Amino acid sequence: MMELSKHLDARGNLSVIEELKDIPFEIKRAYWIYDVPGGEQRGGHAYRRNAELIVALSGSFDVLIDNGTEVKTFQLNRSYFGLYVPCGLWRQMQNFSTNSLALVLASTEYDADDYVYDRSEFMQMVRNRP
Ligand code: TYD
Repeated sequence: MMELSKHLDARGNLSVIEELKDIPFEIKRAYWIYDVPGGEQRGGHAYRRNAELIVALSGSFDVLIDNGTEVKTFQLNRSYFGLYVPCGLWRQMQNFSTNSLALVLASTEYDADDYVYDRSEFMQMVRNRP
């Protein structure tokens, strides 16, 4: 979990992310997840190469990170915190609050072949990790 820079004044707050400075990758893509119906889950996969930073710009949600041996849950509920998710980890997003908005900054362009949805393939990837 990374605390992002915060500029507070009487007009409100501003936070900023610069590639390779605040986060350890170049930003190739940004996408955002919104209007998630109650009880829905997103993700539920790993990436072979893609790394991400996930920020709750509004509302809150949980991100489950699974490295193959343990699962940790991170609650994102502040727009000045970002969760850095390196490649090779299984991640799932759930418990989205009403009107939550998740910003995801990604290190690669979208590539459907980068996704690992199969749990046994993921465990194989974990075993082959250097
Ligand atoms: P998906 O990756 O399944 O979402 P999540 O992992 O958050 O549940 O993406 C949903 C759809 O959006 C799917 O049809 C692929 C498309 N998509 C893109 O076209 N570009 C992107 O960068 C992303 C993340 C998804």
